[in-house]
Parts: sequence; structure tokens; C-alpha cells
Amino acid sequence: MKILLLSAEPAHLEELRTALADKAGRHEVSGGPLALLADPAELVREAPELLLVETRASDPGIWPQLERLAVTAPQLITAVISENQSPEFLRLAMRAGVREVLAPGTAEVVRLVARAEQHLVRGSQHDKGRVLAFLPTKGASGATFLATSLGYALSSRLDKKVLLIDLNLQLGDAAFFVSDKQPEFTLADVCQQIHRLDPSFLAGSATLVHPNFSVLASPDDPEKAAQVKPEHLARILKAAILHYDFVLLDVNRALDAVSVAALDNADLIFPVLQQNLSFLRDGARLLKLFAALGYASDRVRPVLNRLHKGEQVGVEEVEKSLGITVWRTVPNSYHAVVASINQGVPLAVLESAHHPVVQAVNAMADELAGTTPHNDSWLRRLLHH
Ligand SMILES: Nc1ncnc2c1ncn2[C@@H]1O[C@H](COP(=O)(O)OP(=O)(O)O)[C@@H](O)[C@H]1O
Ligand SMILES: [Mg+2]
Repeated sequence: MKILLLSAEPAHLEELRTALADKAGRHEVSGGPLALLADPAELVREAPELLLVETRASDPGIWPQLERLAVTAPQLITAVISENQSPEFLRLAMRAGVREVLAPGTAEVVRLVARAEQHLVRGSQHDKGRVLAFLPTKGASGATFLATSLGYALSSRLDKKVLLIDLNLQLGDAAFFVSDKQPEFTLADVCQQIHRLDPSFLAGSATLVHPNFSVLASPDDPEKAAQVKPEHLARILKAAILHYDFVLLDVNRALDAVSVAALDNADLIFPVLQQNLSFLRDGARLLKLFAALGYASDRVRPVLNRLHKGEQVGVEEVEKSLGITVWRTVPNSYHAVVASINQGVPLAVLESAHHPVVQAVNAMADELAGTTPHNDSWLRRLLHH
């Protein structure tokens, strides 16, 4: 593996070389000053696979530089070595797309190199990703909240590579549910240059909102929205599944041609419902439409959101009335969810893993990924602070 160490201390480079020496020949370690971060194009010229950035103090200048680097080289695994392990520091690192934050010490670095190697091996044997479509049964059912929360859970807990595509072409808001970044490019830009489409063009057009989690934002004006065609979406998904483990679609409930193309190409469809009669009416219509479109019922996984006890309509009534099994329920937690959306910070960052909504989303992620999380992730450390 090609490893690049940036540090103010040349001696540390030698220490690292020695520590990795028993794996001689397998790793190519080079080093340089922190100032190299200022020029991402130059930095990636030698195509390093793992970048280690050692900062003694928390140098605020490195975060925007690392963020830019994450866009230039989305494949590069970046780790920061620092004494500082405060939640604030970890949060800054996470937002800059840094995958790991290590305490100083060669043993830590050797372990990281092993993990990064495993990651690269897994990446090169990438199975095709799965396409999951979230569709509101009515407005404000929670489809965007659940899709973005699930994206965060799959990427942070389970180390999956996730792309969320916001298909609400007029007033899409998905990126802002989990990030305060202003997307530089949108779905419309990808469609406009569809001839350039390949996995890396796609990755570069999406906004990295968290390590391993990108959002391809909806177009920012109606004119551009009109350029997005159903046939574009099919091509985009074909490229996306080569690169991402999960492609989540935040589908517009108006069910226009683009929405139907999204559902046609989805492995699983998650209509999001709530427990009242108007949802049941629209839910029944939606299921009829799915049948007419020829979607097998095992592709359809209804999620009952904002569940609370004491409502007239319970899970059983929903199932009886729609003639379908509810796949999962998500509890109601108004203040916490609104706080998360308003701040653009995933609920799992604001609340502990014991929060009932976080638990419900994590359980969905675990089932969809078919795995349980590993415990050594630094993000988990951050979340449990
Ligand atoms: N589990 C929940 N508990 C409480 N409020 C929720 C929950 N899920 C969503 N909401 C609320 O519903 C609103 C609409 O959610 P959103 O994801 O934008 O819906 P949709 O995308 O279906 O239109 C959010 O602003 C949030 O306040
Ligand atoms: Mg929405």
C-alpha cells in the first residue's frame, strides 16, 4: 500500500517506516510537510492510498484542506494522528471526511494500516450495491428523515459506502438534513454531462456529508430540474452500484416519470406511512399503483413512522386495511427529530444509541446490511461520548 505521512516532525516518518519494516516491500511509505495539504492536486499525483496527517495542536487550517482533498480524491483513506481526542476535534475531523483519528503511537498506526488494507481488499472485490427507494405516502411522512438517517447509520456504524440521490427535483432538502454544506454540484449537473458518467465523475459530483456518505443533491432551480430525465437516472444507478454499497433514493411522491424510473430500478421500495386514516387511504392507492406497475410484493417494505401508542389506528389496523405486513416501525419523537433536521446533524450524532428513533434506524441498517457493527470505529467513540 502507498502511504503518505504529513508531519512537522521528519523523525516520525522514520519511526513509522521502521514500525512497518517487518512488512517490507508491501508498503511504500513517503513523507512530507503539512504544507503539502494546500495543494490537493499535487498531493494525489503519486496516488497514495492512505494519508496520515499528524498535527500536534489542533490546526484549524487543515480541515478545509482535508475537505477539499476528500472531494479531489474520494478513494483516499485519510487519518489524523493527534493528542487531541476531544468531541469537538473528532467532530471537525468527521465533517472534513477523515476516516479515523488516532492517538500518537506506532502501534496504533500499524493497526490502522492493517484495517486500511482490509478495506482496500474489500473495495476491490466490491459486490454490486443495492438500490433502496424511500417514498412518502403523503407529504411530511418522514421519508427524507428516514432515508438520510439510514444513510448515516449504514456508513458510520457499518462502514458501508453510501450515496443518497435526492429525487425531489423541485424542492429537495435531503442534503440539509445531515449537513450544513452547500452542494457544489447537483443531479442536474450530472445529467447535463451524462456522457462523462463513470463512478468517479459521480463521486466527484456528490457532496460528501460524512465519511463514506455522499448526497447527490437535487437541482437548485426549476429550469435545471427539467433536464433530469428518467433514462439519465437508470444510467446513473448503473454506475452508482459499481462504486457504492447502498444507493438510497429519496423519491418524490408526485410519482412523475423520474420517480417511476427510480422505483423501477430499486431493489427494495419503502413507502413511509403514519397511523391515521388519510395515510391509509393514500397507502392503499399507492399499493394498487405498485401492483399495476408490476412490483412484486416482496420488494415493498412499508415503514410506519412516528408510531405512538393510544392512537386509534395501530399497526394491526394498518396491516389489515392495506393487506400488507409493516416491515418496521419508528417511534414518534418530535423535538429530537426537529432538532436534528434544523441543525443538519444526524440524530445519531445528537442523541445516544439508546434513543428509540436511533435504535429503530440502526436496526433497519443492521438488517439491510446483514451484519452487526464492529466496535473499534472512532465514530462510535464519538457518538458515545
Ligand atoms: N420519527 C419521527 N418523530 C417525530 N417527527 C418526525 C419523525 N419523522 C419525521 N418527523 C417530522 O416530520 C417532518 C417531515 O419529515 P420529512 O422527512 O421531511 O418527510 P417527507 O420527506 O416524507 O416529506 C419532519 O420535519 C419531522 O419534524
Ligand atoms: Mg422529503
